Amino acid sequence: MLSGHDYDYYRKAADYIHDRIGYIPETAIILGTGCAPFADRIESPIVFPYAEIPNFLVTTNASHPGNMIAGTVGGKRVICMNGRFHYYEGYSMEELSIPVHVLHALGVRQLILTNAAGAVNQEYAPGDAMIIQDHIKLFLGSPMRGPNVPELGPRFFGVSDLYTKTLRDVARSCAERSSMKIHEGVYMFFPGPQFETAAEIRAARLLGADAVGMSTVTEALTAAHCSMQLLGIALITNMCTGLTTGNVDGSEVSDVAATAAKAFSSFLLDIVRNL
Ligand code: HPA
Repeated sequence: MLSGHDYDYYRKAADYIHDRIGYIPETAIILGTGCAPFADRIESPIVFPYAEIPNFLVTTNASHPGNMIAGTVGGKRVICMNGRFHYYEGYSMEELSIPVHVLHALGVRQLILTNAAGAVNQEYAPGDAMIIQDHIKLFLGSPMRGPNVPELGPRFFGVSDLYTKTLRDVARSCAERSSMKIHEGVYMFFPGPQFETAAEIRAARLLGADAVGMSTVTEALTAAHCSMQLLGIALITNMCTGLTTGNVDGSEVSDVAATAAKAFSSFLLDIVRNL
């Protein structure tokens, strides 16, 4: 039997967060690898672990802290998920919709997703960033599979302006004053946790991908379901398998993310201030 959650399930988590912070944030940011300095720049922070939020998910990845941080950035009220949930951890696509639906039930209407990604486009280099123009997700089901919760969004929903154009325009104008080289391109989801084969990367390029990664698309589709404005920014940490000698591995991803973290976080701060 299908056992979807009803609206009260999301409300319970949202009410808990609202009780802890006392306001409705304008913008939520899901921080991926390389965003630690951004988290440190949030003013008047209220921090609490996901584990304290009823009906929320619990992080399993040691490099993703798993804290909710509410506060202000340039006078704007924000809420950050410092640490995200991935399919490769064992969550189903449907479970991965929970955090964004909870943020929507809290009243948040604007979402920024950040991630680390590998470059498929040979004009990109590690340490660059990419504004996500659109995505490709050919694998697995939809996070909205199963009974629909009409208070959150409609059964069928369009994704033609998935990554909101006006937010991409803001990001592009911030890119002009960033110290990073910033592209705009297509992100393709791979489920991981293995990195891709060289043949998969050649296929991704043929399909139109500029970068690949193991996150973001479930959250993006959930945001579309509940009509949130959405921006996605990828930090390019490596050239993908087959585009460079040697094996892509997690340590290269974390090393480049650590080196680029300050510039990436400054770019993100500038975007949040200007939204
Ligand atoms: N592939 C998938 N996910 C990633 C990569 C990659 O090369 N780099 C960072 N996240």
